Amino acid sequence: MNPNLIIGAPAIDRQHSELFRSFQKLLSSGDSEESISDILSVLTEQIYKHFHSEEQFMLGLGIPAEMLKAHQAAHEQIVEDLTQIHLNAMHGQGLPIETTIATVEACVNHHLMEFDLGLKPYIQAAC
Ligand SMILES: [Fe+2]
Ligand SMILES: [Fe+2]
Repeated sequence: MNPNLIIGAPAIDRQHSELFRSFQKLLSSGDSEESISDILSVLTEQIYKHFHSEEQFMLGLGIPAEMLKAHQAAHEQIVEDLTQIHLNAMHGQGLPIETTIATVEACVNHHLMEFDLGLKPYIQAAC
């Protein structure tokens, strides 16, 4: 994982790194036996669980309520987008699996830079 994306909370950083590892594994696996739907189900579950634990973690950080709300809304939006990507894939309107995974990865990467890195000062202040 890009070291610039480390936020300084070991459990959360580990989950981010596991997510990027999953993306890389899926992108390098070539013609997988698994269906695109199974791959997206596993990926969505991993992302969903991460968002849940990150939200629990944020509650203990004392960040402003508005910031928490915006961050949670961004998580919800990603889950909604993933659901739509999944539906498109199931109806045969999806993009090739590599493109789909790269799109999800770019989306998570963008979220990390726009929202998760914003937690860094609060984590540092809490230490
Ligand atoms: Fe987040
Ligand atoms: Fe995150």
